Amino acid sequence: MLIAISDVLTAEQVTQMRAKLDAAEWVDGKVTAGYQAQRVKDNQQLPEGHPVAKELGDIVLGGLARSPLFMSAALPLRVFPPMFNRYTGGGQFGTHVDTAIRQLATTGQRIRTDISATLFLTAPEEYDGGELIVEDTYGNQSVKLPAGHMVLYPATSLHKVEPVTRGGRVSSFFWIQSMIRSDGDRAMLFELDQTIQWLAVELPGSPLGVSLTGIYHNLLRRWAEM
Ligand code: NI
Repeated sequence: MLIAISDVLTAEQVTQMRAKLDAAEWVDGKVTAGYQAQRVKDNQQLPEGHPVAKELGDIVLGGLARSPLFMSAALPLRVFPPMFNRYTGGGQFGTHVDTAIRQLATTGQRIRTDISATLFLTAPEEYDGGELIVEDTYGNQSVKLPAGHMVLYPATSLHKVEPVTRGGRVSSFFWIQSMIRSDGDRAMLFELDQTIQWLAVELPGSPLGVSLTGIYHNLLRRWAEM
């Protein structure tokens, strides 16, 4: 399931974050890439554990916690600390699949990457190219969102970032281990939750809503891993 989530950050938050990111020292993005991804990765990022990445990552996590759509779509168990990257001057990231297991540098805790997230921090008008292309069963999906908006896509999918031929593309990227490992199961729970929310508006107090809510929680209880 590929889903766009609007307004994870406010315009003011994006402006403040961009000022700090533009002033930070960036390093070659190959440092966190696995062997296969290293050959196709041409961008810059803030080093893991960089104080600016930590400070701004906390703002991103705050935005996620305030987003009911994120909670419903991701059903997060653990969120990898948000990282930041930048593409300029033809920079790109060729077709790859994300590493399945990531280890936190701080605690050594391992996170299974079920969902990949890209949170855009530059407006589409600021750069040419830089589309995130995600291959899914319906074909290639091209994603380029307004600043402050985020896309979630299955970490199992092949994906790439097209060359940035003008300006710069700055984003936050991270992974989520979901309580629901299977993308298909998670998509079904998301649809069910959306239906329950729709019923609450269209038929408030309906016993159908109670019944579907029961089914939702019983499926979650059956499938959730903690
Ligand atoms: Ni990737």
